[in-house]
Amino acid sequence: MSIDSATFRTVMGHYPTGVCVVTSVTPEGAPIGMTVGSFTSVSLDPPLIGFFPDKKSKSWPPIAETGRFCVNILAQDQELLCRRFSGPIADRFSEVIHRTSQNGLPVLDGALAWIDCDLYAVQDAGDHDFVLGEVKAMTAERTVSPLIFHRGAYGQVSAITITAGNERL
Ligand SMILES: Cc1cc2nc3c(=O)[nH]c(=O)nc-3n(C[C@H](O)[C@H](O)[C@H](O)COP(=O)(O)O)c2cc1C
Repeated sequence: MSIDSATFRTVMGHYPTGVCVVTSVTPEGAPIGMTVGSFTSVSLDPPLIGFFPDKKSKSWPPIAETGRFCVNILAQDQELLCRRFSGPIADRFSEVIHRTSQNGLPVLDGALAWIDCDLYAVQDAGDHDFVLGEVKAMTAERTVSPLIFHRGAYGQVSAITITAGNERL
């Protein structure tokens, strides 16, 4: 069975993802960022997370060059930020309220959580890269629903049927 790209997108779109903005800051001090839905937790020891930037991305190479990045997990009320950081806007950070994490990386105001990472490894993954980040600092700041992307639309978690016993936030 040969898989055409439209089928691949349609079938994979049935799997929901959260939405993050991966940020960093250039040596000149300019903040940079891009929206990713491919973020995932990878390893506890060492603490590793991962995501998959497209090899055609213009934002990923300058982020990779800095050797560090911050993953901002978006909340249900941040669809506009998701669109902003995936769209053709010259200065994605203009008018975006943000502060600096303890490792000097941009944290978007209102993000559910942020995760400061050092670049750990980059693996070839077809037309994408598989990026691993080693977590250096992390904080969860809000308890509202994450922004969800599913079948080309945005949503939120409507019901929680299973509650983790060791949940801290
Ligand atoms: C919900 C959503 C999820 C996305 N996930 C990814 C992803 O995991 N990897 C990726 O490379 N691009 C992803 N994109 C697309 C990028 O955000 C977009 O192509 C990119 O930021 C284009 O700008 P750039 O060339 O400056 O990187 C996603 C876009 C949206 C709206």
